[in-house]
Amino acid sequence: MYYPEELVEEVRIKNDIVDVVSGYVKLQKKGGSHWGLCPFHNEKSPSFSVSGNKQMFHCFGCGAGGNVFTFVMNYENYTFPEAVKHLADRAGVKLPEMEYTAEMKQKANKRARLLEVNKEAAKYFYYQLRAPHGEIGHQYLKRRELSDETMHKFGLGYAGKNGTQLVQYLRQKGFEDQEIKEAGLANFSERGGLSSQFWNRVMFPIQDINHRVIGFGGRVMGEGEPKYLNSPETPVFDKRRNLYGLNFARTARSGNIILCEGYMDVIAMHQAGFTQAVASLGTAFTSEQASLLHRYTENVLLAYDSDQAGTKAALRGIDILREAGLVGKVIDMKPYKDPDEFIKNLGKEAFQERIDKAENSFFFEIRVLESQYDLSDPEAKTRFHREIAKKLCEFKEDVERDNYLQAIADKYLIGIENLRKLVVTYASQTGLVRPVERPKSGVQSKNTPEESAKKAQRLLITWITDDPAIYSKIEKYISAEDFTDELYKKVAERLFDELSQGKFNPAGIISMFEDDEEQRQAAALFNTNLPQLNTLQEKEKAFHDILLAVKRNSYEYYTLKLGTDVNALNKVIDGKKALEELAKTRISME
Ligand code: GTP
Ligand code: MN
Repeated sequence: MYYPEELVEEVRIKNDIVDVVSGYVKLQKKGGSHWGLCPFHNEKSPSFSVSGNKQMFHCFGCGAGGNVFTFVMNYENYTFPEAVKHLADRAGVKLPEMEYTAEMKQKANKRARLLEVNKEAAKYFYYQLRAPHGEIGHQYLKRRELSDETMHKFGLGYAGKNGTQLVQYLRQKGFEDQEIKEAGLANFSERGGLSSQFWNRVMFPIQDINHRVIGFGGRVMGEGEPKYLNSPETPVFDKRRNLYGLNFARTARSGNIILCEGYMDVIAMHQAGFTQAVASLGTAFTSEQASLLHRYTENVLLAYDSDQAGTKAALRGIDILREAGLVGKVIDMKPYKDPDEFIKNLGKEAFQERIDKAENSFFFEIRVLESQYDLSDPEAKTRFHREIAKKLCEFKEDVERDNYLQAIADKYLIGIENLRKLVVTYASQTGLVRPVERPKSGVQSKNTPEESAKKAQRLLITWITDDPAIYSKIEKYISAEDFTDELYKKVAERLFDELSQGKFNPAGIISMFEDDEEQRQAAALFNTNLPQLNTLQEKEKAFHDILLAVKRNSYEYYTLKLGTDVNALNKVIDGKKALEELAKTRISME
């Protein structure tokens, strides 16, 4: 933390969240909250709420949420210290200069400078494309059927054959060699000095969601290696956390986002009216990108190349989307290689049809699997069916698994009872029906046991903050360690600590986190929808159930850790006792 906690808290308290948000979003008071159209995703009816009491905002549509710092960070794309500074200025709170460590100042400054130098470079490339000697680049893009309007919208440019002109231009604009190098725009060599990274390429500026240029992709004219050259990672260019085209796609109002492989695909799609298209940045699709997409949509359509590499990437993409709780579908591009070629040849109506007919990702996976077996050979066919059964075991929910089981049995003409038996065999072999291990990304799909456990934990925290008096009644059953998610545990620790001192301040707790995604997750703990219940009995029962669910999950969690965690044994003994006691205790809400 760059500033002392008390100071951060002072700045927060002096910036009423309703006032601050009103400066950006039109709000209307309804009930205890203020409502408006969410600035973080597209919507026609308000699901964005700001609570003056809680000093938090929450969007029921996209899940954005947090305190006043989170809002400013998300809206202005500020870092946490930048948001604190901005709001301190707004409220006339003086921040001690010395709290900015030299290192910190340098860092903030550097980011700003790198964005500046990227912006200047983008301008430079842009004018080159439109200058006489940039004609070759312009012609190339025209040949690829891009209109001038499209080239303008994406800020496309051209890097000429002269390797030092850009450097000279940037120096003239006041940038240091070090800055030019650090932005990845030029490289130093003993012989040539500082010379351009990009050379004889059409240039695609890569923008963050706030349209700031953070890096570049450059495509070679004609044949040449590498075909696409990208900026290296820099302090402002994080390839795992940005997506090409998202700055436009996030306001597309199409109900889905289309994920493509290449920049040209995105641009061709936007030109054809599919402004919901995005692409990863010359690297594989990541779980960070999936959670970024989750802010804007539930539905992601994959428009990957129809070749083997594209299929493989799509399979991996499906896994990542599923893990992030997104619904993935696959668009069939055949007989063309990619969306760009498809649209050029068959037009946008035909592409829209493919969107409408996008294939459920599980069916896609099975179809890919099928192609690996020779189904005329009974032995291979059996192996194929076994693989299907194995994959069906990955569904955790009985209903979902059974629905897929039926659909697949129908589709591949497998006797449904036989397939069911196979599934049961696999399930018992692996101990229980459970998913294959997937890499952890911090985002969980909606229906997993972990996610229901986390939901119970969120419900409990929200309930306690809505009715803090209840804490003293359950104090002896629950502790922060019952929260099995690291971030949740941190929040609970702090909250319980405050409650036991008779004070509590959820909006302040959010400021413990400096990352806006963490702030969102922390805020979600205080803003979960509680069940609407009328009678006292219903309420008591619901609360009791939530408490039990949290406790039971904690008990199971530590049971699994017996032997590897010295703390586990205590927690298990303690958990067992609490569960037994809770079973015969009524927690009164009168
Ligand atoms: P065009 O031939 O221009 O149509 O390319 P494409 O859009 O069909 O792209 P392709 O399928 O060849 O590649 C998809 C994406 O992968 C590109 O947009 C780049 O981000 C990335 N890519 C392609 N080739 C290279 C390469 O040689 N190096 C790197 N780093 N990335 C590449
Ligand atoms: Mn292509």
